[in-house]
Amino acid sequence: MQEERKIPTHIAFIMDGNGRWAKRRLMPRKFGHKMGVEALKRVIDACEKAGVKEVSFYALSTENWSRPKDEIDALLDMVKKFADDELQKYVEKNYRVRFMGELHRLPEVTRTALEKIARASAGNTGIVVNIGLNYGGRDEIVRAVNKLIEEKKPVTVESLNLALDTAGMNDPDVIVRSAGEKRLSNFMLWQSAYSEFVYIDDFWPDFDAATVERIIAEYSKRQRRFGALQ
Ligand code: IPE
Ligand code: IPE
Ligand code: MG
Repeated sequence: MQEERKIPTHIAFIMDGNGRWAKRRLMPRKFGHKMGVEALKRVIDACEKAGVKEVSFYALSTENWSRPKDEIDALLDMVKKFADDELQKYVEKNYRVRFMGELHRLPEVTRTALEKIARASAGNTGIVVNIGLNYGGRDEIVRAVNKLIEEKKPVTVESLNLALDTAGMNDPDVIVRSAGEKRLSNFMLWQSAYSEFVYIDDFWPDFDAATVERIIAEYSKRQRRFGALQ
């Protein structure tokens, strides 16, 4: 029997394996990140075409700062370039770009570019593209709780949902991790409570529209129960 094709509302991606992808080609890790940005753009477009409403991407974790400075600097340059280059296109395509994470630790030039694309696309009604930079699930929860304390608001599931960086977004239906690793690495800890996990062995720079189709096919086979019977 043919499985029904179910389109997830929100897919979240842990983009891993850029470094290994580059190493295999005897190239510097930076080149892996560069091709990783190309994959990011392909995956966003493929998800949009498939009818996915929200996509999240883990681009830089709160723990990634322990990497060599030149790798982080290169990565941040690429993020800035992505924001500058895609601004006009995404505004025209009706994509809305937002960010999660503590952006204040990023260099001002990077942050300015991010704020610019977020502001320019804020009114768009198409796919929501949410990118995690200096993002950590624990840090996000702590910041959200402190915000509620500061505002003297009671801490409830609903109030916390609205205080998180993902306020207004649906929880991810699927969390995808590339490169064969099977862990969250501090990604969307709160939001992943009932997410389905899909692991793809390919390195992130190899992701394309066909990978998105594989993810949707795998998700379509899953039976979600949310704690209930059947
Ligand atoms: C990209 O992959 C994820 C980021 C932290 C930007 P990696 O840079 O972790 O690549 P691997 O895991 O070393 O191959
Ligand atoms: C997770 O990948 C962070 C991002 C994808 C940005 P890492 O490569 O940093 O995770 P670990 O260290 O293998 O858990
Ligand atoms: Mg990695």
